[in-house]
Amino acid sequence: MPATIFLVAIISIGATSAQTGDNAKSLVTDLFTTNKYQKKVRPVRDQNDLLVLMVDFHLIGINGVDEASQRLTTTGYLSTLWKDQYLEWDPTSYGGMISINIPQSYVWKPALALQNGFTKLQELGSSVINVNINISGHVIWEPYEVFESKCNIDVQYFPFDHQTCNISFIDWSHHAFEVQIQEGTYGIVTDELEDDGVWTVISTKLYHDTFDLESRLTYSVTIKRTPGFYVLNIIVPVILLGVLNLFTFVLPADSGEKMGYSITVFLSFAVFLIIVNSELPKTAGSIFGQYMIFQLGIALFTVCVTAIQLRFHFRTDPVPRLLSAVMACRCKSKRKITDRNENEKSDRDIDESKLEETWKDFISFLDFILFWVSFLVVLSFTIVVFLKLS
Ligand SMILES: *[C@@H]1O[C@H](CO)[C@@H](O)[C@H](O)[C@H]1NC(C)=O
Ligand SMILES: *[C@@H]1O[C@H](CO)[C@@H](O)[C@H](O)[C@H]1NC(C)=O
Repeated sequence: MPATIFLVAIISIGATSAQTGDNAKSLVTDLFTTNKYQKKVRPVRDQNDLLVLMVDFHLIGINGVDEASQRLTTTGYLSTLWKDQYLEWDPTSYGGMISINIPQSYVWKPALALQNGFTKLQELGSSVINVNINISGHVIWEPYEVFESKCNIDVQYFPFDHQTCNISFIDWSHHAFEVQIQEGTYGIVTDELEDDGVWTVISTKLYHDTFDLESRLTYSVTIKRTPGFYVLNIIVPVILLGVLNLFTFVLPADSGEKMGYSITVFLSFAVFLIIVNSELPKTAGSIFGQYMIFQLGIALFTVCVTAIQLRFHFRTDPVPRLLSAVMACRCKSKRKITDRNENEKSDRDIDESKLEETWKDFISFLDFILFWVSFLVVLSFTIVVFLKLS
């Protein structure tokens, strides 16, 4: 009888300690051999009866969210309870033994499966998992798994986003009129939840849907990204580089540094983008991604404008009248200062000074305008983006 010996060896003795190994042996022999237990048969004596599964979901951890493949990985276990009418016994015949633990493969169990799973459909549980059976035939089975479920991940508000993901369980091989999945006493339990560092669970919800043929339990988990890392390592540097870029317009063209400076800032942006790329969600559509492109665009604009400015800066021909007229307002204020200093200057002199406008003056005037215009554009865009995000 090697099979029986094996069976007995893997049995651990239940809650109370007054029983002997022989009690356990005979209990198992009686339940599974003498009574001809068939794990293929749904354990209700009247096969028209419904078998009710009470399921609690214990969420242990959020392992990760993969934006590109729209996947949520969680660790947890289902605490499942049902009544097996073929596994009842009278404790007095077995030294008062009121419960036993035996490997899950010995008893009937529901074909619970993750409905919105990411990998191929597989039954929960493994051969190392035991079930606990008590005298009234109540079976407790707690399959521990790493669940990979599909989830629609919307990165629009990255890194201030939160995601709601469903984890659905069904009994894949029984109809709803045979096995009904119902929520247990606790529903979804997050007491044992381990902090993940990036994602925090902010709320959970439970849906119980019964369709004609299938009974489904859905655990909906809303998680929130902790933005700290992304703010410090991506958002702040992008804003700082943006500020640096504006200062291209502060450098005078004569310094000879203007072009080199703007190119350096542009390259810093490009290199930085490559570095942070690995930290960003690999999907399009985040507002922050668009903001980075906007900043890159401004940097590119600065480089082009600087190149053109330098070209005109060294021209010696007179500035067209139109441009002089545009500068008139600024010249007027200049003139006032001149007037104050040298009040003897005649109207004729002033007219002359107007004619003296050079390209150099115009470029410096243009720098002034461009600095403030791009400052205001970047500032307002930044404010709008962060208001939208938060
Ligand atoms: C067996 O376990 C179930 C579930 O924990 C419980 O409801 C039931 O009362 C237990 N039966 C006995 C006789 O203790
Ligand atoms: C989750 O499942 C419930 C019930 O099936 C459904 O009403 C809800 O819209 C689902 N939520 C998501 C985010 O898919």
